[in-house]
Amino acid sequence: MALDLEVWEDNDALYSRAQEIFSTQIKNGATTFGLATGGTMIPLYEKLRSSALDFSHCNSVNLDEYVGVPQGHPASYHTFMQQHLFDAKPFKATYIPNGVAEDVHAEALKYENVLKSLTVDMQLLGVGVNGHIGFNEPGTSFQSETDVVELTASTRSANARFFDSLDEVPKQAITMGIASIMRAKCILLIAVGEEKRTAIEALLKGDVTEDIPVTRLCNHPNVIVLTDLQINND
Ligand code: GLP
Repeated sequence: MALDLEVWEDNDALYSRAQEIFSTQIKNGATTFGLATGGTMIPLYEKLRSSALDFSHCNSVNLDEYVGVPQGHPASYHTFMQQHLFDAKPFKATYIPNGVAEDVHAEALKYENVLKSLTVDMQLLGVGVNGHIGFNEPGTSFQSETDVVELTASTRSANARFFDSLDEVPKQAITMGIASIMRAKCILLIAVGEEKRTAIEALLKGDVTEDIPVTRLCNHPNVIVLTDLQINND
């Protein structure tokens, strides 16, 4: 398995390491970054914001967006990226699916075509408590490309903290598919916190199954995992 596991006891050091990986990517000529949202990414984006890194010649493509949430909504992933990264670090071009497109299925297809026109040098990933990547929930085909997907009750309740109430959390999202994610040249996965243990242990065990989407990364040639979890990987 071409997976480098780095366990960091200190979260600040973990995020500095993630920043260093971005920096090395840029030095090595990377110009297209797949980006992610979620609480896990906030300290990383804070570091990138206060760094000297320049992304003005780079493209970014985000993993996903909620369906039915307008771009200016406080919980949209557009707003998240603007606040946590893009306001301070502009990119040459940024792509995030439009969750309020009149035809969200056509929007998903269009997004997949944008992705295919780019080569993602490094894809940043978090992981859901149930092992989802992007918004690809357990059971999603490994062949999936960008599409409109249903969110599980567990994902909706995990993400309710970003909304005023659980009722407000959308039931659908547009997400890059698992096959779309796997096309990236390199993947940086960050998993922080005990609630991610089951997903990360499954990944490290190497039993690849569509029931736990993150395990698909075992088949990728270049994955770095940064975690604060002490894993018993016997
Ligand atoms: C959401 C996002 C995922 C993210 C996951 C974990 O569902 N679509 O891309 O990895 O949440 O989020 P957090 O970092 O807040 O635990």
